[in-house]
Formats: sequence, structure tokens, C-alpha cells
Amino acid sequence: MSDGAGKPPVVIVKEQTNVTSGTDVQEKLISASEVFANLLKPTFGPRGLDKMMYKTDGNTAVTNDGAKIVSELLVKHPAAKMLVSMCQSQEEACGDGVTTTMLLCGALLQESQTLLRKGLHPLTIIGGYRKSMYSATSMLDNIATPLSDEKLNSVAETAMIGKGAEASLELLSGIVVNTLKTTSENTDYPAAEHVSMFKSGKGSLSDSRVINGVALRRRIPLDGLPNDIRDSKIAIIGGDLKIRSMTRDAQIKIATPEQLDSFVDAERRRKDQIVDAILSTEASVVLCGGEVDKDILHALADSEVVVISELDERDLRNASEATSSNIIDSILDASPEDLGSFGSFAWERNESTDMVEDIIRIDDCPSPALVTIEVGGDGKEATEEAIRGIYDSLRATSLAMSEEAVLPGGGAAHSMIAHHVRTQMESEPGRERIAMEAFARAMETIPAVLAENSGQNPLDKVLNLRSEARNGNCVGINKDGDISSVGGVWHPKSVISDSLETATETAISMLRIDQVVSARGD
Ligand SMILES: Nc1ncnc2c1ncn2[C@@H]1O[C@H](COP(=O)(O)OP(=O)(O)OP(=O)(O)O)[C@@H](O)[C@H]1O
Ligand SMILES: [Mg+2]
Repeated sequence: MSDGAGKPPVVIVKEQTNVTSGTDVQEKLISASEVFANLLKPTFGPRGLDKMMYKTDGNTAVTNDGAKIVSELLVKHPAAKMLVSMCQSQEEACGDGVTTTMLLCGALLQESQTLLRKGLHPLTIIGGYRKSMYSATSMLDNIATPLSDEKLNSVAETAMIGKGAEASLELLSGIVVNTLKTTSENTDYPAAEHVSMFKSGKGSLSDSRVINGVALRRRIPLDGLPNDIRDSKIAIIGGDLKIRSMTRDAQIKIATPEQLDSFVDAERRRKDQIVDAILSTEASVVLCGGEVDKDILHALADSEVVVISELDERDLRNASEATSSNIIDSILDASPEDLGSFGSFAWERNESTDMVEDIIRIDDCPSPALVTIEVGGDGKEATEEAIRGIYDSLRATSLAMSEEAVLPGGGAAHSMIAHHVRTQMESEPGRERIAMEAFARAMETIPAVLAENSGQNPLDKVLNLRSEARNGNCVGINKDGDISSVGGVWHPKSVISDSLETATETAISMLRIDQVVSARGD
């Protein structure tokens, strides 16, 4: 970079550095967002198609989920990186509405390109966009409808639609609502974290079911252990179930056979102490994170107590939440309150494969703070995609339960926003009015893409929606791409309002950039 005009150049960056200034910057950023939005566009809505993501390590994923697609893209472009973090922030906040956010941000930037070319200053566009966003979010508060059981089911279905889980929509949406209702009775608030998912690896999606507890994939250590234990107690131990080994190396010199006997006896007594401690708790199942001593395992098996060892931390935590028990360090310190209870414990050997694993189900827990959805299917790409759909649905449904307010989907809410912003713009005297009109047009991208993906003409539909909104009708685009009341399509309020705010703020932060300094020279 140099100061120019006859003075010696002052070089502050490397020679290959490329500096882009003025409207070229926005053109560059806007074209990146256009590419990104066009990538996600065909996946949008109930008629959206899937993408196959193929990694260098050979792993493939077939998905319709915006968050998954974005996370798999190894984007290099700095503008695209901003868009990736925008999508991540929507996913983290709501778990759904990622594609909507991307489409809105892309549309806002494309609209601003026309205005910049006309000579409007970026700050004027920013001012207009901000005004529109504030007025739109307060309008959404007014049109939000109170939640009912029927609407809650629709929220669960809407978040799942278009994804692999749609194949068993009714069954899975019912499962989503029930699991959240069950766990919210035993926790402070409804949340997707209170529902775990387990791939059964067999049958089809329609075989999915709820386990009011947990499912574990582990080998049952001994043959002949009891299967199908009813209404009993469980102990969960974080560490090993064996005599503590010495932290330092020590050599014990044994001189006589009596000394050896007493040494072996002492060890046996300590093991018996552990076994007695477990038996006195009356637990018939013990889960532990570490190893289990063979003698202890056999002694407990003789008393019909099942021990499952080397479970990972997540399994232990889930089991403790499901059975209302505490994870204890040592069984010798266990108090009765540390123990949990379950209604049934059973295991099933997977005969069809040569895997050395059993599926262990701890079910019918009396007041579970965590439950499990056992997802049927082969456990491969299709099941993974179904799980993403169920997860989106869990997130959206739990938000709706907390907020107790929902907004209409199918582009209806966005078409209402467009109409509202156009009305507000009438009382705007300055140039920001032009940006508000652009904001309103950008909102109509949502119904337009829904119509386009259903094979309809987006322009005709958008014009019809405009006149419907003028007449006060809150209608949108249905599954077939036609204009209708989209009665069964609902979203939690925050999915729509957060995506609107995130998209607008990202578009604004891109419009604020006036120079791109690329050390790579591109
Ligand atoms: N039955 C339906 N009829 C009409 N529109 C629907 C229907 N079901 C869902 N939609 C609409 O489809 C859109 C959601 O599509 P999609 O789930 O593909 O994208 P997203 O939720 O924005 O992103 P993602 O789910 O990938 O995070 C919403 O606007 C929603 O209202
Ligand atoms: Mg969705």
C-alpha cells in the first residue's frame, strides 16, 4: 500500500497482498453469499431435495439438514466463513431454521447489491434494514399464537418434515412430544438434552420406540446371568470395582506359607467386603465406568447381581439421570439415596451379527430425568439423517413448550413481515425507505423458494401472497406449492425471530466491510 501522489511509497503489507476497496468489496462478499444460498436452496421446505456429502476419508452422508451441510463444507472464502458461523449460531440457538437463515441473509445481500449499484450508501441500507428488523420482531410478538396440544404436535412434525424422519412422521412426532413431556415433569425445563438417541441397528424407522430409561451396547459378562429383572435397584460406580492397587511399586517379602495364606486371606476379605457392600444395597444391577475384578463379578453373579463394566462417562451420566441415582466413587461409601430404581432390566443378544455386544435396556424407570428414543433402521446414512430430523424436532418442540407461543410456517409469517414493513415504510421520509422496501422483498424469498421447490411459479405466488396479506389473511405456501392457510405448520416463535435477527445482523456486518485485504492475493 502506498500514499501515492509524488511521495515515496510506504509499503506496509507483502507484495502479493491484494487489496479490494469500494463497491468491489460488496460485490465480492455478495457473490459468495449468493453461491452459498443457492447451494442450500434446493434442500428447503417439505419438497426439498437431499445432498450427498462425500468426505476425503470415504465417509458419506445424505442429508437435507442445513447445519449438517454447512458443517461438512470446508469453506475457504472469508465471506463464506462468516456465513458458516451464522448458520452455526442459528443451529446452537434453535436447532432448526438454518436454511431459512441462509436464504434470508443471501436475499438481503442480493437486494443491497442493487441499491449499492444505484449509489445508496451502505450505512443507509444498514439503517433501513435495522429499522425493518426491529419493527418485524415486535410485529411477530403480536401475531404469535398461544400453544395448544395440537399445535405442539404440528411443531414437532414441521421441524422433521423433508428430512429422513418424515417416513414415520406421525409416530416420531408423537414420540418427540411424549419424551419431552415425560422428562420435563422430572426436570426444570423441557430440553433436547434430556432425550438420548440409540440406534437399534435393525428393523425400520417405524419400529422406533421410547425407552423410559437407557439402552447400552455392551457384552453381558457371564452366561446365565438373569435377564428380565423387574422393579429393582441400580448402583452406578464411576471408577473400578476392584481392590485399589497401590500407587507405588512395593515388594512384599513372604518367608513362610502361613504368611502367604494370611496375605491371600486379607485380599479375599477385602473383596468380600466389596461384595457384601453391594449386596447390602439390594441393587440387582451395577454399572461401572472402570474394570471389575473377576472374583467380585462371579460372587455377585452367584447372588443374581449383574455387573456391566467399562461404560463410558456419557452412558453412566445418562443412566444416573434416568434412574435418579448418583454416580459414586466407591461402593463402600454408598448411601441408600445414591441408589436408583428401574422397572425392567433386560438384554438381547445380537445373533445376526458377529459383534460381541448385547443390547441392554434399562426401562420403565419411575421418574426419569432422561429417556431414550430407540431409532429403528440399519443405523447407516438413512438412520443418521432420521436422527438429525428427530433432533431438530426435539429442539424446536422444547422451545415451543418453553415459550408457549408459536408462529405460522410455510412462509406465512415472512409474508406478514413483508407486508408489515411495507406499511411502516410509508411513514419513513428518508432514503432508508428504499432499504426497507428491499428488506420486505427479501422476506418474500421464503415463500418464493417454497413455491419454486414444489414446482410452482414463485413470482405469481408471491404476488398473490402480497394481496392476501393486504387483505389481512395470514396464509402461506402449502406442501403442493399452493396458497393456503398452512393450518398444521407451526414453528416456535424464536426459530423465526432468531433466524431473522441472525440473518439481518450478518448481512449488516458484511455491508460494513469497506476493504478486503487478502494476504493470499485473491
Ligand atoms: N407441510 C408444510 N407445508 C408448507 N411448508 C412447510 C411444511 N413443512 C415445513 N414447511 C416449511 O419449510 C420450511 C423449513 O424447511 P427446512 O426444514 O428444509 O429448512 P430450515 O428449517 O430453515 O433449515 P434446517 O431444518 O435445515 O435447519 C419452513 O419455512 C416451514 O414452514
Ligand atoms: Mg427445518
